[in-house]
This record gives sequence, C-alpha cells and structure tokens, in this order.
Amino acid sequence: MTIPIDTRQAIIPARTHDLATLLRGRRSVRKYQARPVTREQLEQILEAARWAPSPHGRQPWRFAVLTQPEPKRQLAEHMGANWRSNLEMDGQDSKIVNIRLEKSTQRILTAPALIIPCLYLEDLDRYPDAKRQADETTMAVQSLGAAIQNMLLMAYDLGLDGGWMCAPLFCPEVVCAALNLDEHLIPHALITIGYAAADPQRRERLPLDQLIVRFD
Ligand SMILES: Cc1cc2nc3c(=O)[nH]c(=O)nc-3n(C[C@H](O)[C@H](O)[C@H](O)COP(=O)(O)O)c2cc1C
Repeated sequence: MTIPIDTRQAIIPARTHDLATLLRGRRSVRKYQARPVTREQLEQILEAARWAPSPHGRQPWRFAVLTQPEPKRQLAEHMGANWRSNLEMDGQDSKIVNIRLEKSTQRILTAPALIIPCLYLEDLDRYPDAKRQADETTMAVQSLGAAIQNMLLMAYDLGLDGGWMCAPLFCPEVVCAALNLDEHLIPHALITIGYAAADPQRRERLPLDQLIVRFD
C-alpha cells in the first residue's frame, strides 16, 4: 500500500540522525528508484555491520556485494529455478508460480545494490557435544541478525533504504554455486539497498505492555 501524498508529512518521521527516530523510521522497501548507490555508501553500510556484537567476538559473517547486472541475473535465475521447484512441489497453480517468480526476480534485478550476509562458522569455538555446537551456531546466527540490523539502520541514516529477503536461507548451496562463493560461506539472506521508489507501508507494532512478561 502506498501512503497518499497529502497524509505523508504527518506520519513519516523526519530522517534525523537521532537513534530513536531512526529506529522508528526505518521500513522495509521493496521497490527502488534507478538512482545508483555509491561504493562509499556501501562501504559505510558494511562498516556498520562490522561493529555488531558476536559470540566471543568471532565475527562469524562475510558479505557478498553485488551491484552489476550479470551476477544479479545469475542469482535471480538460480534462486528462481529452486523456488519454482519448491512451489510446484507444494502444488501451487502454475500461473501464480509465474507471477510470484517474476515479482521476486524483478526485486533482485532492479535493486541498485544487493548484500548477501553469509554465516562463516570456521572461527567459532568447537565442542565435543552436538548440543553446545548447535548453540554456538545459533549464537552466530543471532549475531548475523544484529549485523544486518546495523546495516539497515546505517543505510537509512545515509538517506537510503533496505529490504530483507529470506530466499537464500532456503537454498544456500544454490546461491554459492550461482556466485561462485567459497564453500565455507552460508548465505542467510539478501538485503536490497537503494532509494525507495515510494513511501512503503509502515507496519504497526504490538504495544510494549504485550511484549513484557514481567516488569517489577
Ligand atoms: C528474518 C527476516 C526475513 C524476512 N524475509 C522477507 C522476505 O523474504 N520478503 C520480504 O518482503 N520481507 C521480508 N522480511 C521483512 C519483513 O516482512 C518486515 O521487516 C516486517 O514486515 C516489518 O516491516 P518493516 O521492516 O517495514 O518495519 C524479513 C524480515 C526478517 C527479519
């Protein structure tokens, strides 16, 4: 849903550099202007990721950055083929499958920049038991989420916008093959970056008192 222009000013928080305002103002963007994102802007966004907290400070993340049409097309094509077979397996109508795939392909191709946050587990602590090793991996995933949020907020602070797509999580090996990524990288998401084409829907949040279990 696009917000009518005459009501926008009242509800869109001005993009000030105050943290509380940035937190509330950031929104997921799914359509971008053709205006490019500069290398310097992308470096500032990636620099923000670097400062996220991580288990034992091990920084279990790497980031693939795509700005050129050909690698974006490779990615969209390979992930699309994988998604198509999943949707067909679910018994979805072929017309719907085609529409959904086209939409997702366009999102990837028209975003000025893509960042693929990858989990990198090689530097994590090793444990003799599977339970603690799995917990260690969970911590790494948690910290990757923190790094992604840092990037989204930095992008917003720079006047840009971002969108989070989960698609790589379902086919990490397909993403690695499409982009010739190192086998130790596990793609977990796809972050689109650019200038929003229109102000997107702003989703409401649950009231704080519904989220807190105890507040003594
Ligand atoms: C782990 C995760 C996966 C997400 N995957 C997708 C996705 O595949 N496609 C999409 O359009 N949005 C995706 N989103 C964005 C959410 O839909 C969005 O953050 C949520 O609706 C709240 O809206 P806001 O970000 O504008 O506040 C994802 C968000 C998270 C945290």
